[in-house]
Amino acid sequence: MIEINSLDHNGRGISRLNEKIVFVNNALPNEIVEIKILKDNKRFIEADVDRYIKKSDIRIDSPCPYFEVCGGCDIMHLSYENQLKFKEDKIKNIVDRYLKLNIKINKIVKCDNYLNYRNKVTFQVNQDIGFFKKNTYDIVNIDKCLISDNKINEAIKYLKKLDLKNIKNITCRVGLNELMIIIDTTNKNLNIDILKEIADSIYLKINKEYIHVFGNKNIYKMLNDYKFIISPDSFFQINLNTCLKLYNKVKEYVGSNKQVLDLYCGTGSIGIFVSKNNNILGIELNEDAIKDANQNKKINNLDNINFICGDSGKKIHNLNFNPDVIIVDPPRSGLNKETINNILKFKTKEIVYVSCDPMTMVRDLNILKEQYNIIEITPFDMFPNTKHVECVTYLKRK
Ligand SMILES: C[S@@+](CC[C@H](N)C(=O)[O-])C[C@H]1O[C@@H](n2cnc3c(N)ncnc32)[C@H](O)[C@@H]1O
Repeated sequence: MIEINSLDHNGRGISRLNEKIVFVNNALPNEIVEIKILKDNKRFIEADVDRYIKKSDIRIDSPCPYFEVCGGCDIMHLSYENQLKFKEDKIKNIVDRYLKLNIKINKIVKCDNYLNYRNKVTFQVNQDIGFFKKNTYDIVNIDKCLISDNKINEAIKYLKKLDLKNIKNITCRVGLNELMIIIDTTNKNLNIDILKEIADSIYLKINKEYIHVFGNKNIYKMLNDYKFIISPDSFFQINLNTCLKLYNKVKEYVGSNKQVLDLYCGTGSIGIFVSKNNNILGIELNEDAIKDANQNKKINNLDNINFICGDSGKKIHNLNFNPDVIIVDPPRSGLNKETINNILKFKTKEIVYVSCDPMTMVRDLNILKEQYNIIEITPFDMFPNTKHVECVTYLKRK
């Protein structure tokens, strides 16, 4: 029997047993639990709860029937207010511990719809459809996912009628009330007729190649007055409510009459969003995303934005562009040393760092802080019910 003291960054309860740290799934501070040990390493133990002796006052019954087994959400046993507090504390802890600077951390910006916010979901498939169980490749079959857009939930019963034998996974993306379905399969002749009742666009993904088999080739999203094209493989923020708040924050920092370098630009969405009265150059590795970015430039009638396809860190070396502001929005792995060194060569007045992983963010800020003051960090709840937090950090050259 152990007592839980606090939560780790993944939302697991932390306790101690025989000089070792214990991480307990689905356990909250002040709870007293009996545990079932899953892994016993030299320095720490990982465990599930076998029996709750005393439950926390802040525990709620998760609204999702799959929460305890499904690997999708981590903190659905907390009310939304307590989820926000967990995320704020997580960022404060990481900054205190790894940056060791007294930095202004703003209140977390919440999502207005903490359920049904996901506009893109990938379902795993075996004989049925669902998500991977926590820490395994076993699948939890589901009929509904509470954090996904209702249009995706409506699609599940149709997806279940497909011949699932040779299907690895199925991705659903929602645009302006349009549904795109992408089926990763080895069956070229898969009968998809049943999906025509609900889908606006259908692709088969065979050996990494996207084959358009029904409806429109693309779907669209709007952010303020800007329209964005979504193709099957391109990155687009999955939570539009929080995305809009985050992009507005970036826009506030960028201001106007600036030369803006938008690194890791995806389909150009941040650059386009901040483009009014500015000149933008976006760089992105994924060729399809760059094709979409150029389409986005065209459909929004913009002539003050250009895109380059390639590695952001390498392409900025010897670039014929003199930025006033650099925006970076890297994947979870963050920036690498070469990229940071090349960014520092520009000596720009300001950097706006958008991050989906606070650990790699503070690692990078630790290098950037030698030449830049870290003015403030704002956490955003882009992924309610999960442990993830998005942050925007504003830096000014010393
Ligand atoms: C977190 S997304 C951000 C996309 C975009 N800023 C947005 O808000 O939609 C990260 C992007 O970085 C791209 N990427 C990954 N590694 C890269 C690299 N080395 N150079 C340039 N882009 C890269 C990915 O393809 C992805 O589009």
